[in-house]
Amino acid sequence: MSYQGKVVFVAGGTSGINLGIAEAFARAGARVAVLSRKADKVEAAITHLRSLTPDVLGFSADVRDYDAVAAALADTAAQWGPIDVVISGAAGNFMAPAINLSANAFKSVVDIDLLGTFNVLRASWEHLRKPGAAVINITAGQSWLPTPMQIHVCAAKAGVDQITRTLALEWGPAGVRVNSIAPGPISGTEGMARLAPTEASEKAWTDSVPLKRFGTKADISRAALWLCSDEASYITGVILPVDGGFTLWGSGAIAHATQQ
Ligand code: COA
Ligand code: NAP
Repeated sequence: MSYQGKVVFVAGGTSGINLGIAEAFARAGARVAVLSRKADKVEAAITHLRSLTPDVLGFSADVRDYDAVAAALADTAAQWGPIDVVISGAAGNFMAPAINLSANAFKSVVDIDLLGTFNVLRASWEHLRKPGAAVINITAGQSWLPTPMQIHVCAAKAGVDQITRTLALEWGPAGVRVNSIAPGPISGTEGMARLAPTEASEKAWTDSVPLKRFGTKADISRAALWLCSDEASYITGVILPVDGGFTLWGSGAIAHATQQ
């Protein structure tokens, strides 16, 4: 699938699943901008992505800071023109029961995932290619499955998916599609290191996936490339699980896996 010359902006694109998505767009010929907080991660991602495509930008910014996010998007559009693809994937997670969360702990995750997604999408609007742009929010099964020790993530990602549906309605008439991808357990990621810290919990997760394996970053990036392409031009407002069927079990499997 070719994205030759297309402009792609990935918030949270310096590690894990989102870097995998940035890499896939870079391999497909896109010009790729990534944004995250830590300058060393941004630099490493720029160096890596430049081995795949000549046109790479990196921004060190916090998605909770609207002005910083807006400046990065404006800079990207000023250098390369209208933005074809926006991925909003910055997130924070840790396991803790609600009674062990301070108000600030809850707020931190909600601010990164939910307010951060609002900031990225709101600030992108004036720079999007209209018609034609595609937006993907990276969500999680916790969005619709109540999950012990994940109240902050459940609340935040449910909000993210309502942003997806609401903006699909508001932005559809301008020819901008807005969808979510909900990855299942993806190997070699910070998220799974936090959710499956022991061998027992890793086995519980794998056992619970109908396809009997963890997903890969490539599983997610292939879905993202397809969902942003003309092949998916009539799809907007969907929450697409890419999870080996994991969430079909409902809350029981995810609760069991996170409690091992
Ligand atoms: N249990 C309970 N509370 C926790 C916690 C844990 N395991 N980890 C952090 N907190 C609390 C902190 O104590 C703090 O609350 P307080 O001010 O009342 O003490 C609050 O969360 C914010 O922590 P802080 O470290 O200041 O936030 P931050 O904005 O620097 O970092 C996090 C955000 C906490 C989500 C951090 O884990 C992070 O940066 N994560 C990004 C990477 C990641 O999570 N990847 C997986 C994505 S799925
Ligand atoms: P990750 O490697 O930790 O990726 C998170 C990215 O977001 C990093 O680039 C991080 O870089 C950035 N980030 C975090 N807080 C930020 C902030 N406040 N402002 C700007 N950038 C910020 O984690 P991952 O496991 O690959 O997860 C990626 C996405 O997939 C997340 O949305 C997560 O919810 C979702 N997901 C993951 C899994 C899984 O199996 N891993 C399953 C379901 C859903 P900095 O630290 O430099 O800021």
